[in-house]
Amino acid sequence: MNIHTYEKLWLVAAMVLIVGFIATITYGSVALGITMVGDQEPTVEPGELNDDERFGDPGVEHVGENQYDAYVVAQTFAFRPEVLEVPANSDVTFYVTSRDVIHSYSVVGTNINTMVIPGEVAQMTVEFDDPGEYGVVCNEYCGFNHHEMEGQIHVVP
Ligand code: CUA
Repeated sequence: MNIHTYEKLWLVAAMVLIVGFIATITYGSVALGITMVGDQEPTVEPGELNDDERFGDPGVEHVGENQYDAYVVAQTFAFRPEVLEVPANSDVTFYVTSRDVIHSYSVVGTNINTMVIPGEVAQMTVEFDDPGEYGVVCNEYCGFNHHEMEGQIHVVP
């Protein structure tokens, strides 16, 4: 049987693509050490957040000069607490976890955006310089009231 030249060409092209994809994934995960989920933070039990030291009564804690920790629980269909208040010129480290399904914690108009996975604690540190109000939304479809899942960050003078 004689394989048509073009068909051979396509076969080779397909093989190159497949090998390329695999190489990209391998390179990304091994060479660059990319982790999809932060593995520095201890995990949490989504069903026992009420008894959790950090997430039982989530909110903002003053931990140092101009430094704050903000604990947030995402759940269908709200953020707890709904409103976070931090002073201007502060560094805020967010710790966000989910009580149920996958959500996100996305601050509108900024590049602050993290996926929130049950059992995991998403962590990020943000510098808030100027006073202002920011809206927080959920960017991961999480159910019928996903679009109503909102919060706010108030940066006060
Ligand atoms: Cu939570 Cu969409």
